[in-house]
Amino acid sequence: MRVAVVGTGYVGLVVGACLAETGNDVVCADVDAEKIKGLQKSKLPIYEPGLEPIVVRNQREGRLAFTTDVGAAVERAEVVFIAVGTPPDEDGSADLKHVLAVATTIGKHMNDTKVIVTKSTVPVGTAQKVRAQIAKETTTPFHVCSNPEFLKEGAAIEDFMKPDRVVVGVDSPEAARVIEELYAPFVRTGNPLIVMDISSAELTKYAANAMLATRISFMNQIARLCEAVGADVTQVRRGIGSDRRIGQAFLFPGPGYGGSCFPKDVKALIRTADEQNVPADILTAVETANARQKEVLFEKLEKHLGELKDRTIAVWGLAFKAETDDVRESPALVLVEELLAAGARVQVHDPAAMDTAAHQLGTRVAYAEHAFDALSNADALAIVTEWLEYRNPDFTKMRQLLKRPLIVDGRNLYDPQKLGRLGFTYDSIGRPLGCASS
Ligand SMILES: NC(=O)c1ccc[n+]([C@@H]2O[C@H](COP(=O)([O-])OP(=O)(O)OC[C@H]3O[C@@H](n4cnc5c(N)ncnc54)[C@H](O)[C@@H]3O)[C@@H](O)[C@H]2O)c1
Repeated sequence: MRVAVVGTGYVGLVVGACLAETGNDVVCADVDAEKIKGLQKSKLPIYEPGLEPIVVRNQREGRLAFTTDVGAAVERAEVVFIAVGTPPDEDGSADLKHVLAVATTIGKHMNDTKVIVTKSTVPVGTAQKVRAQIAKETTTPFHVCSNPEFLKEGAAIEDFMKPDRVVVGVDSPEAARVIEELYAPFVRTGNPLIVMDISSAELTKYAANAMLATRISFMNQIARLCEAVGADVTQVRRGIGSDRRIGQAFLFPGPGYGGSCFPKDVKALIRTADEQNVPADILTAVETANARQKEVLFEKLEKHLGELKDRTIAVWGLAFKAETDDVRESPALVLVEELLAAGARVQVHDPAAMDTAAHQLGTRVAYAEHAFDALSNADALAIVTEWLEYRNPDFTKMRQLLKRPLIVDGRNLYDPQKLGRLGFTYDSIGRPLGCASS
């Protein structure tokens, strides 16, 4: 099938590459000329495991191309995916200006009947707005459908190629047929393609992210309680996760959720609920709990070190989670900003996200090429991202490098007792303190 993907960010690039991989003829279009210039030379603008070889191979074999000419990409396509960003507006609602700008372009270039698919995360009612916007520009008939994306950054290829489910909201059999054909290679093993009405599909995406954000915040608060009463959240997690009604996944406490999706999607869902006069008490509580959780490592550092002015703090991990260079809403940036505001010196390391973080942090922090370089002369190490390379480090070397053997760990990477035996003070999330005497 001839496919256009408009918006070549994390989602658009993965969608375009994976659809090309299954034999479709795909053109990815974006208004960011720099990004497209790079992609035309197979230079990827993001770090996403497994993506590069697919992009390179499909480009070489002529199934994947990149352009800034959105109109031309639309004209040659039978199916057009809208995968542009939907950042929060000032009031928290999803800002649809990019989506509607693309709809206008699509309308202007509707040279034949096409299926238009909203892939971006958009509030209920957006498909109707997209339809109206396109219809202003053309009399050619077209189909609109909603196909929210559930991929996780860091595992995006796997998620797209082997999705738990594909959700599609349609109001015409033709749109359903086209989507079923495009996705057939990805749902062969039996995971469902769930066809529903458009409003339900739009809401499903927000409900999924809000549920996940709620689980995280719930566990973060249980972890705080564990610390207060001397319980261990790892045991509690095992105890509840083995209940099949609860399940094991997404019960890990941490330094607060971040990323380009959960924070903005929870906000947007609250906004939708407000507009409908439906109380969203749980969601507002999740937001409050998460904002509080992003303070947790700073609070722990203060607890151990007192005033942080003129202290040197090493920070491992800037990305909002491992296996991505995305720092949007990252708890690490909240921590670093707080440390700087408190007058601390900050030495940071991240295997993939130092460049993206540098857009915000500039020259205010020291960037360490190697994780251990960040530790030199530091009063403490704060771990914010669960990168594999931090999981089994040389603790003897770490002790030598750190001025003070203090680790605050937002990801519970190590065994507190072991760290205590090795002479560290080790403060993690919801678990007993590891300390030299323990
Ligand atoms: N990142 C994720 O993990 C993820 C997962 C599921 C869903 N989503 C949703 O998918 C959408 C895209 O997210 P993303 O993270 O890929 O965003 P992104 O910011 O990485 O990429 C968006 C791209 O759209 C381009 N763009 C903006 N306006 C344009 C226009 N008028 N014409 C052409 N291109 C334009 C931008 O230049 C940018 O390259 C959002 O709605 C997001 O909520 C994201």
